[in-house]
Amino acid sequence: MDRLQAAIARARTAREALLAGQAEMTDPPAASSEAPPVDEPNTTPETTPKDPWDALEHFTPDAAALTRHRIVTRESGAKSAPFDVLRTRALQQMSAQGWSRLAVTSPGPGCGKSTVTMNLAFSLARQPDIRTIVIDLDLRRPMLATLLGCDAGHEVTSVIRGKAEAGTQMLRVADNLAFATTATPVHDPAELLQGRRMDRMLTRIEEIYAPDVILFDLPPVMISDDAIAFLPNADCALMIAAAEQSTLGQVDTCEKELAAQTSVLGVVLNKCSHPGEAQRYGYGYGYDSYGS
Ligand SMILES: Nc1ncnc2c1ncn2[C@@H]1O[C@H](COP(=O)(O)OP(=O)(O)OP(=O)(O)O)[C@@H](O)[C@H]1O
Ligand SMILES: [Mg+2]
Repeated sequence: MDRLQAAIARARTAREALLAGQAEMTDPPAASSEAPPVDEPNTTPETTPKDPWDALEHFTPDAAALTRHRIVTRESGAKSAPFDVLRTRALQQMSAQGWSRLAVTSPGPGCGKSTVTMNLAFSLARQPDIRTIVIDLDLRRPMLATLLGCDAGHEVTSVIRGKAEAGTQMLRVADNLAFATTATPVHDPAELLQGRRMDRMLTRIEEIYAPDVILFDLPPVMISDDAIAFLPNADCALMIAAAEQSTLGQVDTCEKELAAQTSVLGVVLNKCSHPGEAQRYGYGYGYDSYGS
């Protein structure tokens, strides 16, 4: 979790610089007039162990497809700012609790779960020492491959079923960001989303790839039992509510359902079109933390 703490500190500094209208800061090389220590033992191994991330298939997302799908966080700026705030707050809370598995869901369909998941993922990827894996677990309507502009046909369901190794179904889209996508919808996925097979897959991914954060793009809570079936596997959950679409009653019910299964990290109010608090950042997103 030290890496999370360091990343949070850097994110805060960068954000303050951005808000002050300054150029984004990069870590300056440590200037020192002192001579390097001479009697330090040489701990460099003769052969460096292979990093399992290096074996992952590389994929460069289509920039036009990302923009078309409102993925705006590959570079920092005004559009990425609300997601960077979300990233930093989520990292702070997760770091404080020792959490790494974050589920993203919503009361009903179309609130922007996949859009927020992708934006959060690319925002996290701008933290060089944070490794993030995103898993598409909306098995009825998997969308992440489409949003990436990728038709490689990977199937995370094969990994859950134990028929494929996780690495064969993952795409590395940045040094520190990988996606496990799924191409073929499953019509009754609840049994895949809970139980020992899911637990085995997640444990194995954590053992091999040691991600600091795993993001799960889940289905809506109030449409099927899929999200509820999965949630005990997550450390915490983020609820995406859509302005003028999700009712207060739905948000309330969803929050109760989430809280019964996991810790609720907060609510993102998406698709805001009226001026207000959330518009300070100019892209129609607001975030409210439930605290710990
Ligand atoms: N802030 C926003 N402003 C305007 N449109 C948005 C915003 N966020 C998402 N959308 C659009 O809303 C639609 C639904 O978004 P998305 O697919 O991310 O929702 P979802 O909750 O994942 O849907 P589903 O329940 O089908 O999985 C997409 O067309 C997306 O581009
Ligand atoms: Mg979705």
